[in-house]
Amino acid sequence: MIQLRDVSKTFTAGSERVDVLKDINVSIEEGEFVGIIGPSGSGKTTLLQVMGLLENVSQGEVLIAGEETSAMSTSERKGIRNKHISYVFQQYQLLPALTAIENVMLPVLQFKKNKSIEERAERLLDQVGLSHRKKSLPAKLSGGEQQRVAIARALMNNPDIILADEMTGNLDEETSGTIMKLFKEIHEQENKTIVMVTHNTDLIHHTNSAYRLREGSLVEIPQVEYDVFKTKE
Ligand SMILES: Nc1ncnc2c1ncn2[C@@H]1O[C@H](COP(=O)(O)OP(=O)(O)O)[C@@H](O)[C@H]1O
Ligand SMILES: [Mg+2]
Repeated sequence: MIQLRDVSKTFTAGSERVDVLKDINVSIEEGEFVGIIGPSGSGKTTLLQVMGLLENVSQGEVLIAGEETSAMSTSERKGIRNKHISYVFQQYQLLPALTAIENVMLPVLQFKKNKSIEERAERLLDQVGLSHRKKSLPAKLSGGEQQRVAIARALMNNPDIILADEMTGNLDEETSGTIMKLFKEIHEQENKTIVMVTHNTDLIHHTNSAYRLREGSLVEIPQVEYDVFKTKE
């Protein structure tokens, strides 16, 4: 579903060069739930933006659902992104002036608002356990509730791929557990491909496989080590 071939990413600011990603090769299959861990500044957000076609690579190829995207125009890439990919962020990124249900409908509002869209948004809010708060503004919701609205919004376009960037980074342990459980349900019931990046190794046991990003290289965590994470479950 997502394939990176010899991907490198370098940022240059003036005379300074930062090689954030170095020769990354990874193949994430349809329906996989993959975790990527790495300390702050290791390039996790950059890697996720490369996978989500929000950031160009300096070198290499990025394939989404079999299509090579690195030579595409910005609008072609946008088309692929809209068709396949949704994001969930640490900061939720809800629009403060819109109610919960309006935020969920946001991905399709630019096209058309109609009854079936509203019904779908209601169903998704129900799925994340928030149908009773559909008319609330984000400021009236707790962090965990706001993230659940953001997850419902991410599902609105029925993406194949969900990319989650430190999704529980602002939440306490218990709420974080609830959100991870919800994500696992979505993964199991709807066969979404999910890539979750985090600096928190405690979350990794929820995933099917995991990688570590260190000094620009992505290395799969060996099964024995991964089993240690799993025993925490
Ligand atoms: N747009 C940018 N321009 C220059 N440097 C950047 C840019 N984005 C990220 N970086 C640098 O790339 C490195 C990795 O950043 P990031 O991907 O945000 O890491 P993480 O998400 O793991 O904390 C950092 O050193 C950061 O300063
Ligand atoms: Mg980051």
